[in-house]
Amino acid sequence: MSTPILEREPAAASESPTFTVTLIVRRFDPEVDAEPRWEDFDVELYPTDRVLDALHKIKWEQDGSLTFRRSCAHGVCGSDAMRINGRNRLACKTLMKDLDISKPIYVEAIKGLPLEKDLIVNMDPFFESFAAVQPFLMSSSKPKDGKERLQTVAERERFDDTTKCILCAACTSSCPVFWTDGQYFGPAAIVNAHRFIFDSRDDSAQVRLDILNDKEGVWRCRTTFNCSEACPRGIQVTQAISEVKQAILRGKA
Ligand code: SF4
Ligand code: FES
Repeated sequence: MSTPILEREPAAASESPTFTVTLIVRRFDPEVDAEPRWEDFDVELYPTDRVLDALHKIKWEQDGSLTFRRSCAHGVCGSDAMRINGRNRLACKTLMKDLDISKPIYVEAIKGLPLEKDLIVNMDPFFESFAAVQPFLMSSSKPKDGKERLQTVAERERFDDTTKCILCAACTSSCPVFWTDGQYFGPAAIVNAHRFIFDSRDDSAQVRLDILNDKEGVWRCRTTFNCSEACPRGIQVTQAISEVKQAILRGKA
């Protein structure tokens, strides 16, 4: 028996009224521009559209040279962090209806990392700091039963928050210390060190604590909370940094 073909319901968005929004995008083409410049685009959108949809409409319908990173479009890959109206956000998680569309929306690249083109920055310094904290499980001991490293619910809970990081750099590039001091490890590297420092299966916490006790480590943090506010995963970044500071001073709790 053949399976009946279901008729597709009209998309809810098509029943919503559209509106025109002005996006002002900070553009930079290293082959042409000496300095970045702002460019306006008027885009017709639905309230359920996201800033990423607006950028796609510009790229596909108005100016194919507009350059930005994105991959998953659903807040998982971390590739489309950018400054939207002066705040670090993921373009794919920022709905138009949550912005004040009576005014232009300003979109620019995240700060503190070298600008390459339009909304794209060079992420190498960010990932070098991430790699420097050795963000992987290190254990020289054998599992007690010879097979598995068991962990209680409470032990897993201890570092649950910092497992959620998607390495988008929204936190690090919102940090005023990182803007002025290119050597600072930055919040994201500390979050990823925290994830392993407090993992009961890992026995190299002291290695990472020594790395972050450096003059460019956790003591550079001025507790401005920009990082926690910027994190699209809701990670308590400032708290994680504070816990690493406590572990350096008093040992791992
Ligand atoms: S801690 Fe949050 S803001 Fe920072 S890199 Fe990870 S997901 Fe992005
Ligand atoms: S495109 Fe993957 S997080 Fe936005």
